[in-house]
Amino acid sequence: MFVCMCYGITDSQIEEAVRDGGIGNMRELKSKLGVGSQCGSCVQMAQQIIDTTIVDESLFKDVG
Ligand code: FES
Repeated sequence: MFVCMCYGITDSQIEEAVRDGGIGNMRELKSKLGVGSQCGSCVQMAQQIIDTTIVDESLFKDVG
């Protein structure tokens, strides 16, 4: 699913950037993938994906 139409960024690319790229917020995501730096309409959804991925990751770490 595309989150950012302007840059053609999908939700899984954002998840990957958070999980493997150490991205923790919108500002970092913006500078890494460009997400949100054009029209800005994807910012809210991108932020949500960052948040959910971080939560998932910390739950996973607790178990491990
Ligand atoms: S859809 Fe992401 S900046 Fe336009």
